[in-house]
Amino acid sequence: MESSNFRPENWQAYLVILLLTLVVRLVLNARHRSPLANVPGPYFASVSRLCHAYHIFRGDNNTWTRALHERYGHFVRLAPNEVSVSHPDGPALILQAPLRKADWYRVFALPDYRYVNTPSLLDPKAKAVRARLFAPAFQLSNLLRAEPHFDAVIACLLDRLDEHAASGQPMDLNRYLSFAALDVAGEALFSRPLGFLAAGRDLGGHLAQSAALNRYAAVAGHFWPLHVLLVANPAVTWTGLLAGGHVLRTVRAALRRRWGDGGGDDKGDARFDVLAHWMRAQRENPDALSQRDVEAQVIITMSAASDTVSCAIQSFVYHMIANPPSWARARREIEAERARGFCQDRVVSYHDSQRLPYLRACVNEAVRVFGPSPMGLARMAPKGGLSIGDRHFPEGTTLSINPNVMQLSKECWGPDAGEWNPDRWFAEDISSKMKYWIAFGLGGNKCPGENLAQMELFKIAATLVRDYSFRQVDPENRWQWKAYITRVPHSWPVYVEKQSGHF
Ligand code: HEM
Repeated sequence: MESSNFRPENWQAYLVILLLTLVVRLVLNARHRSPLANVPGPYFASVSRLCHAYHIFRGDNNTWTRALHERYGHFVRLAPNEVSVSHPDGPALILQAPLRKADWYRVFALPDYRYVNTPSLLDPKAKAVRARLFAPAFQLSNLLRAEPHFDAVIACLLDRLDEHAASGQPMDLNRYLSFAALDVAGEALFSRPLGFLAAGRDLGGHLAQSAALNRYAAVAGHFWPLHVLLVANPAVTWTGLLAGGHVLRTVRAALRRRWGDGGGDDKGDARFDVLAHWMRAQRENPDALSQRDVEAQVIITMSAASDTVSCAIQSFVYHMIANPPSWARARREIEAERARGFCQDRVVSYHDSQRLPYLRACVNEAVRVFGPSPMGLARMAPKGGLSIGDRHFPEGTTLSINPNVMQLSKECWGPDAGEWNPDRWFAEDISSKMKYWIAFGLGGNKCPGENLAQMELFKIAATLVRDYSFRQVDPENRWQWKAYITRVPHSWPVYVEKQSGHF
């Protein structure tokens, strides 16, 4: 009688069985032995990150997460170690508190892991120290000094609108608004527009490249070691293979001009712009900031400043077209201010735009119903864990708050949360709801570019409503969009009409 049925020649079958056993064990552990085992959510999401990554890749992560919350409630398990939270206390407990950011944020180190910037710094203390050095550049008073230069860029956008109004040709407004956001960002950062509006075209195919990078990075952040191995490492940066593109070249040229002699002189540009602020911060704090740190911050700021602003203005125009009474009321408001001697410049000044409460409500509503940042803002539960509502999450759990979920939550905003209603911004209880309006984030990681974004939004929105009318080529007023790190609408050409007698 044989003592064993083991046959060495069948090693491949044994290996497969061993691997399958391991996988089943890992799956069962992730699903049933995890402290998050009783947090509801899709089965595959609880056993593998791939389910979440798949929806990010598809560009519907935000609507997927929202649908899951509608089905399961305040807490949804999006991945083995990540819970999405829509509890009303979530924004304060997770975003306002100084919690460590989730590892996903390391993907913001561009072009490789050596280029650490404020969003890629995970530790809240280290991030706060660095953010303090960069923050003064975005104070409203500094930005207002550059307003005439922003106006010159926006006037170029108006020239393009006028051309389309005169020719009657449909206009891909989404592209021109992205060009405007890119050019204004160049003007704010280093006193030079990137030239998109002047050229009237997508230089170097930037928009397509940016959409691809937006999609890639949203997924790659969840697979950091692989991302570093294949893409975000000094060897790839050295080859220059991924370093191309009009925007990156322009950013680097601006830096070279300023640092031309290695002395950190501000020569070459007349204005004390954002880069000048940061170079001074670097010279005064050489131990805390290197030139590479400044370069990394310029690169990430340039990326963060374009799609977001473009998306927000697109949302404004799109929803205002779909709601003609809102457009008409906003225009009446501007006309009344014109009659009082305000809003008279070709590009409405920021100061005058602040006299338009209804228009501002429409901008806020546009950013609420269609937020430009569709990913969950993810933080780690601290030592001792974190309690939210009736649940306790152990230390190290990734807890995320999705702005798109919070901003459309009926529990927070009322039964009409999903509908366009600018009047909600005049309700008595609006100040108590502002904690759920987290389009720009909250707490120590709040968007540092909010002032610039608001300037662009109010100025452009007021000017468009005063001087133009738009009609979508598609009579059903549809548009398309993908939600990666930012939400990028596309494919909704419009006809432009100019108000007679205006500029
Ligand atoms: C409507 C326009 C914008 C929206 C909705 C927006 C929204 C956001 C959000 C949600 C975050 C992330 C917060 C977090 O991770 O918790 C963020 C971060 C950031 N934004 Fe914005 N943003 C906009 C425009 C801008 C502009 C114009 C700039 C630059 C001039 C900018 C620069 C940045 C930077 C550098 C970060 C990283 C912050 C850090 O962690 O240090 N953003 N933004």
